[in-house]
Amino acid sequence: MIPVNAIIKEVIKETPTISTLKFDIKPDAIPGQFVMVWIRGVDEIPMALSHPNGITVQNVGDASETLSNMEPGDSIGLRGPFGNGFELSGQRIMIIAGGVGAAPLLPLAHQLRLKGTKISILLGAKTSKELLFEEQFSRSGEINVATDDGSKGYHGVITGLMDTYDLNSFDMFYVCGPEMMMRAVLDMLHTNSLESISQFSLHRYFKCGIGVCGSCTIDPSGLRVCKDGPVFCGNILLNSELGKYHRDVTGKKIMF
Ligand SMILES: Cc1cc2nc3c(=O)[nH]c(=O)nc-3n(C[C@H](O)[C@H](O)[C@H](O)COP(=O)(O)OP(=O)(O)OC[C@H]3O[C@@H](n4cnc5c(N)ncnc54)[C@H](O)[C@@H]3O)c2cc1C
Ligand code: FES
Repeated sequence: MIPVNAIIKEVIKETPTISTLKFDIKPDAIPGQFVMVWIRGVDEIPMALSHPNGITVQNVGDASETLSNMEPGDSIGLRGPFGNGFELSGQRIMIIAGGVGAAPLLPLAHQLRLKGTKISILLGAKTSKELLFEEQFSRSGEINVATDDGSKGYHGVITGLMDTYDLNSFDMFYVCGPEMMMRAVLDMLHTNSLESISQFSLHRYFKCGIGVCGSCTIDPSGLRVCKDGPVFCGNILLNSELGKYHRDVTGKKIMF
């Protein structure tokens, strides 16, 4: 469990708030697994692997800002990979990605394409400038974008774009994005009785990342996002805290 040292080799500015950091090691991971990233002197935070040797970071606070400002030659510590990752299943797949939630879904799209799976990708962001990995996803399947401000693609939230598809023609849905978006997607799948063929990757506050401290448990099941997840089937999440509240560093409930 001692972090392995990784040297940053390349920094790619993906959007005004999101950067990809590629390092000199390739953790042996499956799509949807995460690493605990130790930023010396600052914090240790969970990050999905967006590439075999890389993570994609949105600048939201102290640790992610320090990561976003790193340069080639700087180093970080990595523990992991941890978590269950996505289960690869189905022949006709819909991938639904919002904002930086596209990060764990990119390696999944690549693997599914290698298996010859037919993929529709719905990619959402606040504005066209914040769309993440549009070009990379388009190599794996048919892509449709939605922006909140209408600056590119469908004008509105991603569930509006989902509405333009025959959802019953898909046999698996993979989802990651802001929590309110994931709740809206889950509710829509539930309306169509499709929640049992969906997989959602959750973001929660982590301390240990290995299932010991209990800071990432979700109500009412008590499942630990770091150890039992971060990927959960929609039917497990349907009556959960998803989209209602999460917990901060002290364990206090924060309402969405
Ligand atoms: C399994 C997993 C994979 C993740 N993958 C990525 C990724 O690929 N790219 C990425 O940019 N982020 C990812 N995150 C979220 C990332 O860990 C947080 O954004 C980060 O910990 C924030 O730390 P900070 O010190 O920069 O901000 P803080 O100052 O700690 O927090 C800033 C804001 O972000 C919220 N926040 C803090 N921690 C989390 C968290 N774990 N999840 C959601 N919101 C949080 C806080 O409530 C606060 O509003 C992932 C989280 C998990 C659990
Ligand atoms: S972060 Fe400690 S149990 Fe999940």
